[in-house]
Amino acid sequence: MTVPINVDVDPALTISPPALADLLGRWPTSDGALYRLLATRIGRLADTGELPAGVRLPPERALAAALSVSRNTVALAYQVLRDEGMAASRQGSGTRLVPHRTTPAAVHRANGFFAGLLSAAPPFDLSVAAVDCAPQVAAALIDPATVLDEAERTRLTLGTGYLPYGLPELRAAVASMLTTCHGVPTTPDQVLITTGAQQALDLLLRCEVAPGHPVATDNPTYPGFIDAIYRCGGRPVGVPPGDMGRLGDAVAVHQPALAYLTPTYQNPTGLVLPTAERHEIVALAKRHPDVTFIDDMTLAEIPLGPGAFSDGSTSGGFTTGPQPPPLAALAPRLPNVVTVGSFSKTYWGGLRTGWVRAPEGIISRLAAAKAAADLGSPPYQQAILAALIRSSHEDVVAFRADWARQRYTAMAAALTAFLPGWSWTAPAGGLTIWARRPGEADSGGFAQAALRRGVAVVPGRLLSVSAERSPWLRLAFTLPPDDLTTAVKALASV
Ligand SMILES: Cc1ncc(COP(=O)(O)O)c(C=O)c1O
Repeated sequence: MTVPINVDVDPALTISPPALADLLGRWPTSDGALYRLLATRIGRLADTGELPAGVRLPPERALAAALSVSRNTVALAYQVLRDEGMAASRQGSGTRLVPHRTTPAAVHRANGFFAGLLSAAPPFDLSVAAVDCAPQVAAALIDPATVLDEAERTRLTLGTGYLPYGLPELRAAVASMLTTCHGVPTTPDQVLITTGAQQALDLLLRCEVAPGHPVATDNPTYPGFIDAIYRCGGRPVGVPPGDMGRLGDAVAVHQPALAYLTPTYQNPTGLVLPTAERHEIVALAKRHPDVTFIDDMTLAEIPLGPGAFSDGSTSGGFTTGPQPPPLAALAPRLPNVVTVGSFSKTYWGGLRTGWVRAPEGIISRLAAAKAAADLGSPPYQQAILAALIRSSHEDVVAFRADWARQRYTAMAAALTAFLPGWSWTAPAGGLTIWARRPGEADSGGFAQAALRRGVAVVPGRLLSVSAERSPWLRLAFTLPPDDLTTAVKALASV
């Protein structure tokens, strides 16, 4: 059975409407009558054991409100489930899934965001901040001989290929990139290569957090981190991004094992934390040596401007000023400041390559956990990436910044033209706009209705550690500019 995280669910008896909406994912994106699609999806959840045997489905009216459909649609769907012997209704106790239809399955918890990722994408997917492959990367993957000579390729085929720490060449390339491009002096021994930043975060949680232990995090935040906290049994403590007072209180009061921050281009807000506040965080880390502070730099190489940096300048509408330093640049030897990053947002997510920079002791613990998880990421791709970093890192980063600005400009123009009532602050960087619909307590119903117009957006609730109702929506601007305009027009018609 899958229990959506963060949502008030009593799995033995009942499931709340938002929890079921999360599990349903992108149920209305196929062709067919809505009630049939709904019944089919609920039946599938029952078949796979994701909805537990005997669970009471939400009342028709409440589920209809959560899904932004008519009550009749839900009533007809429940009728189909009854007709097919999958559900039974009794006066006074609602509609329950019939036990024999379910199969036993491990209990795990999943954020609705990931439930969405597992289903087919709608025509306009603004829910995932995934980029296409940078041309330099595509060329190297298509013809590795352009970046690796025959001797290098041959050498890769020797040995076991099991490298839990990562390919030495890539560890060295990441260390040199951090040292020269970000002012973070780093040796290869301080670097672990991971399967994306998601695995880096997951390993840190597994290694540093005991079940029940608090984990402080930006809130709202990147949903993959929320999911990983719940999977390791941690207890999230949310802190509004950039609120130094609340961060200090959360650390002092809860003594969390980890404090997760995205100071440069926070996901979802796109905020950048000024240098002065970064010094405050370092001072906090010095006062609390038992708390490990994570600086997630996954989006840090995608500036958008204008006004990107509080301590930088802008020119021609875009920022040219110095980027505030990563936390580790301010205190390179502080053992409880760990940096996480990825090539997913600049090079390509399909490389599935991220990294952690930490003291060697933490790196060893993480490598042991990585060995247990997958024995190491594939070395051949790591070799191609290492060669690309050495030869073309600045080109790739410059390409991606232009790429993102074009898309951001299109999305911003479309929002201004077609949704003038929405409020949002221009992000300083990153790949998402955090927008608020006027006069609404929760954006979940809107997100459901948008799906049926072919547009996926992330309701703010899924980015909140406590799944609070939220009028906010996260809009990723990673589709081609014309598609973004079409998608925003479709949102305006919801
Ligand atoms: C802030 C942040 N951290 C981590 C990740 C995960 O990245 P990866 O694709 O490298 O696993 C993302 C992806 O969107 C992200 O936005």
